[in-house]
Amino acid sequence: MSAESAPDLEALDPNDALAMLVWQVELGADEAILDAPVDRFELPAASPKAKPADKPTERAAQDVPSLLASDPVAEARALASEAADLDQLREAMAGYDHCELKKGARNLVFSDGRAGARVMVVGEAPGREEDRVGKPFVGAAGQLLDAMFRAIGLSRESPDLESALYITNILPWRPPQNRDPSRDEMAMMMPFVERHIALAKPEVLVVMGNIPAGALLGRRGITKLRGNWTETQGLPCLPMFHPAYLLRQPMQKRAAWSDLQDLHAKLNS
Ligand code: URA
Repeated sequence: MSAESAPDLEALDPNDALAMLVWQVELGADEAILDAPVDRFELPAASPKAKPADKPTERAAQDVPSLLASDPVAEARALASEAADLDQLREAMAGYDHCELKKGARNLVFSDGRAGARVMVVGEAPGREEDRVGKPFVGAAGQLLDAMFRAIGLSRESPDLESALYITNILPWRPPQNRDPSRDEMAMMMPFVERHIALAKPEVLVVMGNIPAGALLGRRGITKLRGNWTETQGLPCLPMFHPAYLLRQPMQKRAAWSDLQDLHAKLNS
């Protein structure tokens, strides 16, 4: 912004100032720049030169952590693959700091229901209620999801693995204003999702809505995808409409019911 067009900050109404700030953040501004320019040629030399390692092999070993740190996806992959069970995976995700969403979230939303259930549902990301409670699908869409699966005898509360449900999301942290997750956010969380599925060992996956379909199947267009069995992570996978969409478009519940019956038939086949 040039000096001529800069607003008189003293005269600025605080609400206008806040609205301008929100607008800039929505445009993608993520760093505050100082009022006065910094002459970086005048700054003292940054960090002392790294001491070369004694042997090339030691040097290579030292470089691995820094290489991983500069590649959030590689670091996520390394952390996820080290997790031997779901508790370790949750811990690894809680300690993963590359996803900016973590900073604005109240809770890590990992999963709900019974690990080991025959059916694992993968949603998009926590909303406000999920962020508050720390469990997936607990708001209005979650209540509809529960009713849908109850209709075919499955429940996240069931102690019996035969009739249990296991639920997670692509992202464990709530995106601000429930915006769609960015490509980068999804790419860095996918290794955790893939490991999550491998450790939970469901027989069948249900992906709810466009975002998880894009992330797990590499395809969007849920209207065409829904109801058509496909495969991902070595498992049969049924894409379905997201319950939040069904709340907005109740006419589509008929399609969702048909998909649920299909799922029921698959489990009984
Ligand atoms: N929508 C989702 O996709 N996941 C949730 O946990 C809640 C709403």
